[in-house]
Amino acid sequence: MTKQLNSSEVKLSAQTWMSSLPQIYKNQPQTEIIRRGLEAKSKLGDDVIILAHHYQCDETYSFSDLSGDSLYLARQAAKTSAKFIIFCGVHFMAESSDILTNDDQITILPEFTAGCEMADMAKTGEVEKCLDYLTDVCGIDSFIPITYINSTASLKALCGRHNGTVCTSSNSHKILKWAADKGKRVLFVPDQHLGRNTANALGIPKHKIKVWDRNSENGDLSREEILDSQIILWNGCCPVHCHFKIEEIRKLRESHPDIKVIVHPECPEEILAESDYSGSTDGIIKTIKDSTSFNHWAIGTESNLVRRLAKNLSQSHGKRIEFINEKTCVCDSMNITRPEHVTWILENLLEGNILNKITVANDIKQDAKIALNRMLDLS
Ligand code: 13P
Repeated sequence: MTKQLNSSEVKLSAQTWMSSLPQIYKNQPQTEIIRRGLEAKSKLGDDVIILAHHYQCDETYSFSDLSGDSLYLARQAAKTSAKFIIFCGVHFMAESSDILTNDDQITILPEFTAGCEMADMAKTGEVEKCLDYLTDVCGIDSFIPITYINSTASLKALCGRHNGTVCTSSNSHKILKWAADKGKRVLFVPDQHLGRNTANALGIPKHKIKVWDRNSENGDLSREEILDSQIILWNGCCPVHCHFKIEEIRKLRESHPDIKVIVHPECPEEILAESDYSGSTDGIIKTIKDSTSFNHWAIGTESNLVRRLAKNLSQSHGKRIEFINEKTCVCDSMNITRPEHVTWILENLLEGNILNKITVANDIKQDAKIALNRMLDLS
């Protein structure tokens, strides 16, 4: 079965959770499902590699050969020689894997509806219109388009075609600095918060950072505002990271004066200002693990990472970890993949059936690969 969905279809089908998973995989005890999956995986040997993002639940994570943040996983996909890459992550990650691997390698997304709401906030046609308008105002090649990796393959291709690139939360400084060193203005899509936090850290003056309102005529920016800009931020955001509140952090500090707060840079700048540190998912894990001075932490990112880290580091490193808000930090579309999906995929592979293959169309692939490889070279 080979399917190709665009991101809005992914969003639509996310409403029919586990729609494609056969009933027989839903009725088994999970320990048995995991045992069967691991048995199938071991029979498939080196033909298969399983990559897992930190947001996966423990049971799905337990299948992984390698786990990490978006940059690490993209690098591993580009490096692996395995025939099948099973990506326990979301649609944009699996698309990046298909773009970065050879034509004879196959990327599989175990749950086809695993997506990213923010990626859906930047439609390629709308971004292209925006870039045309900015070019009209400031001149040809005045703007470098940079897309966060949480975006569709076609948006990455647009950036590749216009001398732009991709960034993740762990290399956004390097990438924005590269663009600034070229003396160019930047159009940053789709995450306004990662864009703003990175621009702030690079010392770009506030009045040079403008927001393009994707729902308004000409982004609701005048020609003068565009001419005065250094970076224009698409007004997309991650609904999960936008939910943390300043009061929640202040309350935590009141109850635990010793606590250190670390958040993902997809959070708004006000939340970063209330926090002690920020970092990608790998960055969060490393900062807490490596810290010898602080043992009590609060984390602002997806719940599975926080829960797993709390469990692992309380045993091995004697750390105490709190949620900033346990209720709001659940990302239902990122963490939707269950061990049942992985076992279903692996058992079918053993029988020669390739399910949930991710295929990026060739013309998009070529340009998106330029953008992604530029990012990998720059980081
Ligand atoms: P990382 O690259 O930090 O893992 O972030 C991925 C993501 O989607 C955060 O919401």
